[in-house]
Amino acid sequence: MDFKLEIAKVISQSLSNIELDEIISMIEIPPNPDMGDYAFPCFRLAKVFRKSPVQIAEEAVANINKPDFIDEIKSVSGYINFFINKSVFASSILSELLKSKESYGKSDIGKGKNVVIDYSSPNIAKPFHVGHLRSTVIGGSLYRIFKALGYNSIGINHLGDWGTQFGKLIVAYKKWGSKEAIEQNGIKELMEIYVRFHNEAKQDPSLEDEAREWFAKMEAGDEEALSLWNWFKDISLKEFNRVYKLLDISFDSYAGESFYNDKMDAVIKELDEKKLLKESEGAKIVDLEDVNMPPCLITKKDGSSLYATRDITAAIYRKNTYDFEKCIYITALAQNLHFAQWFEVIKRMGYDWHDKLVHVPFGMVSMETGKLSTREGNVVLLEELLNEAITKTQEIIDEKNPDLEDKELVAEKVGIGAVIFNDLINNRIKDVVFSWDKVLNFDGETGPYVQYTHARASSVLRKADTDIDELDIDYSLLTDSSSVEVIKLIGQYPDKILEAANKLEPSFIARHIVDLSQAFNKFYHDNPILVEDKKLKDSRLALVYSVKTVLKSGLYLLGITALEKM
Ligand code: ARG
Repeated sequence: MDFKLEIAKVISQSLSNIELDEIISMIEIPPNPDMGDYAFPCFRLAKVFRKSPVQIAEEAVANINKPDFIDEIKSVSGYINFFINKSVFASSILSELLKSKESYGKSDIGKGKNVVIDYSSPNIAKPFHVGHLRSTVIGGSLYRIFKALGYNSIGINHLGDWGTQFGKLIVAYKKWGSKEAIEQNGIKELMEIYVRFHNEAKQDPSLEDEAREWFAKMEAGDEEALSLWNWFKDISLKEFNRVYKLLDISFDSYAGESFYNDKMDAVIKELDEKKLLKESEGAKIVDLEDVNMPPCLITKKDGSSLYATRDITAAIYRKNTYDFEKCIYITALAQNLHFAQWFEVIKRMGYDWHDKLVHVPFGMVSMETGKLSTREGNVVLLEELLNEAITKTQEIIDEKNPDLEDKELVAEKVGIGAVIFNDLINNRIKDVVFSWDKVLNFDGETGPYVQYTHARASSVLRKADTDIDELDIDYSLLTDSSSVEVIKLIGQYPDKILEAANKLEPSFIARHIVDLSQAFNKFYHDNPILVEDKKLKDSRLALVYSVKTVLKSGLYLLGITALEKM
């Protein structure tokens, strides 16, 4: 039963001149159950009806014939509050879940539509640091969320794998590098010779010229230059892939910046033909002064292309290749201007799909000082952070539950899950302060807390050892306040997935499963489950199973594995 729809129909008995869809969109879920299960605010209607909101609500309550699924309709200070019959409520929501099981909350509204998600996108030969963690986990989660809604998600890792810095790296390697050291220490070693290049170039500027020459060779397709570049790329990807494996992240395409090398000339020509290019000190730009933005740089005076040139080319390529419904870019807030500029260029090129390009910015991560030291100075390497999370979780398990089966696996899933959850629990635009005490707190609003609640529900179901399809359920036994609270949250879950997709905000799901965990733990405290009375036991087991199913699904959508035992 779609309660919002049914209530909207009831409301339209009195407010017949408002469209049903509009009524549905105005219905709210009150924060406090004393105000009912659903509420309809009349404030916006005051103008239309030339009456006070209180009067509108009162008249509506007087005019409405109360159907059986509603226990009570009240007018309270401009709101119409609806109290749903609790058995109908429980039956409607739980029977839907028991029918669809693991697909509860999923839909096919996105069927046949492609959503491109550009995420993670680290720069090769540079360390994968905690800043990249955010793009990786937000993108990975949105990928799963869109899939759950039936969209075809296409994940792209737009690697930063081209640019003048690779000319410098080649020079540095030829002068001071060692093949063995790089094979052994990977990106760390590449970083070291790169830093050395910068230090030495201060004394000897001719190094810069050499680097420019090597980059020019790369652009000209020189075999030696490209084979070194390819090797740097392989070394980097090996490390990135270790991190992706830990985070359970994958991509459909690794077409990075270099992929567009042979595609940019056509785009630059197109910009020129559309009279969008201007010369400025030898460089080519698109002037954006009329929209109060600095110009978008297309080529430098030596003819080389820029970050924006590659993004414009990539967007056109992606539109042609995937005909996307949306193309989403997940990066730090600091790149706002970059995206605003080149989105505007796409618009001026006359592409009506410019409004399908969406930048999804996020806030910064900082470490709580003193808590995490790293040999690298102030960059915290993601791989080290993840491994530390696993080790710390291992210590907690050894202390709390030393006989647990599969301890290593549990430590990995809980440790990594904790880091991911910490990143996704707040609005993405907020800065994240990383503190181990908070991240791994099993009682806070954390990944371990939700995972633990899931394991608790699983354990009850294991002990009960009954077939979910054979339960003898009496929904009127699930009308106490702690059961109702749990059922309400289960009923809201499908909307939370939609909301998370619409707002590109996985935190809606993270927040919701924390709320559900808290409500379930209260239910668990208030209501013994494995009781003698079979009907009562089975009814409560139906609720436990439903909670387990939603928690598992919600964790999955965040990129976290739910565990049976913890
Ligand atoms: N490589 C860039 C960075 O690390 C992020 C790329 C984001 N994606 C894009 N299409 N610009 O800052």
